[in-house]
Amino acid sequence: MSHLFNAAIIFGLYLFVSTTQATYNLYLNEYETMRLLGLSAEMYYVRDGHINKYALQFTVPVAANINDIVFTWQSLAGRTLPYRINIVTADPAVLPRPQLNISRIGEMPQEIETFSIEMKCSGIRSSEVEVTISIEITLNRATNNVTELVFTRKKICLQNEIVDESMDNATMFTTIPKPSNDIMTLIVGGFLAIIVVVLFISIAYCARKPAKRKPHVTQLARTSSFQRLQTAQAQSPSICPTTPRGKCTEPEELQRRIAEITVQRCRVRLSSLLQEGTFGRVYRGTYNETEDVIVKTVGQQANEIQVSLLLQEGMHLYGALHENILAILGVSIEDHTAPFLLYPADNNTVNLKIFLQQPVARTLTTIQIVRMSSELAGALCHLHAHGVVHKDIATRNCVIDDDLSVKLTDNSLSRDLFPQDYHCLGDRENRPIKWLSLEALSKKQFSEASDAWAFGVLIWEMCTLAKQPYIDIDAFEMENYLRDGYRLAQPLHCPDELFTIMAYCWAVSTFERPTSQQLQLCLLDFYNQLTHFV
Ligand SMILES: *[C@@H]1O[C@H](CO)[C@@H](O)[C@H](O)[C@H]1NC(C)=O
Ligand SMILES: *[C@@H]1O[C@H](CO)[C@@H](O)[C@H](O)[C@H]1NC(C)=O
Ligand SMILES: *[C@@H]1O[C@H](CO)[C@@H](O)[C@H](O)[C@H]1NC(C)=O
Repeated sequence: MSHLFNAAIIFGLYLFVSTTQATYNLYLNEYETMRLLGLSAEMYYVRDGHINKYALQFTVPVAANINDIVFTWQSLAGRTLPYRINIVTADPAVLPRPQLNISRIGEMPQEIETFSIEMKCSGIRSSEVEVTISIEITLNRATNNVTELVFTRKKICLQNEIVDESMDNATMFTTIPKPSNDIMTLIVGGFLAIIVVVLFISIAYCARKPAKRKPHVTQLARTSSFQRLQTAQAQSPSICPTTPRGKCTEPEELQRRIAEITVQRCRVRLSSLLQEGTFGRVYRGTYNETEDVIVKTVGQQANEIQVSLLLQEGMHLYGALHENILAILGVSIEDHTAPFLLYPADNNTVNLKIFLQQPVARTLTTIQIVRMSSELAGALCHLHAHGVVHKDIATRNCVIDDDLSVKLTDNSLSRDLFPQDYHCLGDRENRPIKWLSLEALSKKQFSEASDAWAFGVLIWEMCTLAKQPYIDIDAFEMENYLRDGYRLAQPLHCPDELFTIMAYCWAVSTFERPTSQQLQLCLLDFYNQLTHFV
């Protein structure tokens, strides 16, 4: 495994060294980042000449009601820098050539300048139009040293478009001609993409609040969302060597993390398809011909929302070092339309939910189920100790190997691979309704206590060999059903002790639910009792 990380680190360094360029800034200002991505921060594509390749690769969706996008730049070279801008739209009939409010060929000023690109749809039909903006900047005329930056945007156009920012809500709903299903998806997609991008960028955020230092932190070799919460302060000198303001630079930090575990795609061999959804795929394969891995990827038909969601969710447990956590090992974004996420997979690792539903699982004993539950509680305890809330604890997000050793993993692709476990309650958000605590369901409040609730459902799944919880209850009815005090029933052959633990997890008050540490202790205790008698 270490050579993988060495390779990744060398590759990461290469990425940094190779992006060093002459000096200028090119970024989305706070207003624009807020408008496009809902985030209050500047987003740098080029900072001090350093190009953020990762940010550049990202196709930013432009919602139907946004008719212009802006960029901000400034030459830091002590002189103006010549530029040339070219904009190409993939479908000029739907989106005519966008207009710039600066000239296409000119000089980047030494003062901060903001320019806009107007994108007005023709309205002849609804479509998603890819817009490619290429900006060539001449760093040195003498040596003809020119950098070309290419940005892609996906503009969402509606037929007979009359949506604009000044329009109020009422007109918006009455005047858009009935969108076809496709377009509804586009709109919803655009909206989700924005959320996703925000989440994505926010991974890269370093904690700005002073964080506690904990002694065990040094055990973590790599930075992660874990460390972000507790050690960013301690680590910031090495994380942000170039940041004068003493806070981390978001996209660069994200890029660094991705670079840290970037692997070359040619070293990955896929051997068999394990699972397939509408766009997501899980393969078994090898890395470097020697390491067994599970590869999560998306098919060519996946859109950038699905792609970024895969990356975002795949990075959630990045850096977690625990024997019962399966964290991401490597990522390849060479082909950013279909990234590869690699997870270690010794010993025939398979998905726990799928395993439980196979005939072989019927031979599992209560002792084994209790042991597995206690291992998973240990994993949850580790996450919580590092301030990470999982938010989607379920057997579908765990794996098991030939030795029946279980690991908790992230939920990337689960919505696609286990569609029956997720429901939309009319708010465009596909959520694991039947695993959600009351407050997560009604107020979208997630905490260690909501993880504990879901953990109770997970134990129930283990006892029932992954039956669907509340199979007869409509997702829309769940909130009232839980409020009325109903819960999952005690499964057949489930010992009272185990059911008591589950039932505690489903207390209405978050304070009455067990902590992950208590869960682990209770389960271990029960395990010891059981093994004592046999
Ligand atoms: C262009 O300029 C940058 C920085 O000024 C330098 O690192 C790079 O090597 C130059 N490229 C060429 C082709 O001269
Ligand atoms: C271009 O338009 C943007 C946004 O409308 C504005 O902030 C900016 O000042 C304009 N720039 C120039 C050079 O006119
Ligand atoms: C649209 O409605 C929401 C709440 O329903 C309100 O907060 C928002 O200001 C409205 N927007 C416009 C443009 O009227």
